[in-house]
Amino acid sequence: MPPLEIITLPDRKLRLVSDPIERIDDDLRRFADQMLETMYEAPGIGLAAIQVGVPRRMLVLDVAQREDETASRDPMVLINPEVVRFSDESIVREEGCLSIPEYYAEVERPAELRVRFLDRDGKPREMDAKGVLATCIQHEVDHLDGKLFIDYLSKLKRDMVIRKFTKQARLSPKSTAL
Ligand code: NI
Repeated sequence: MPPLEIITLPDRKLRLVSDPIERIDDDLRRFADQMLETMYEAPGIGLAAIQVGVPRRMLVLDVAQREDETASRDPMVLINPEVVRFSDESIVREEGCLSIPEYYAEVERPAELRVRFLDRDGKPREMDAKGVLATCIQHEVDHLDGKLFIDYLSKLKRDMVIRKFTKQARLSPKSTAL
């Protein structure tokens, strides 16, 4: 399976609010596997369906090797994810995004959370997350609502990033593809 194409700024699709998934079948599972493959190849630790142009509420992630390089892969598929609890405590962490290549900035978010979702078999699950996983889940769930991590930055910084990518896309449409 060839990896899927990841869309990047200033693609307007990134601002779409994704629709819930109503049927979990083999086609969807195949798509989830393709998303995982695309994420590993990029490489990244999380990917939302809208980042490959599909406005559905699904994301894949794997933070296992971010915290321990020798760890084996631990791919996860979250369908219709919903954060049902945030911690009061927050944490500042540097974030990047496969749809905003080579740009990193510090973002403050709740440090821990509980997320409710359907797994790849359609089974309802709940999971507590902290550390990089909690940050990653929030970043990816934001994508499903058309929100990007640069939205947490000052307007000045955000406009600068958007301008840079808009200019780049105009000069060479393929230059930002990872
Ligand atoms: Ni992202």
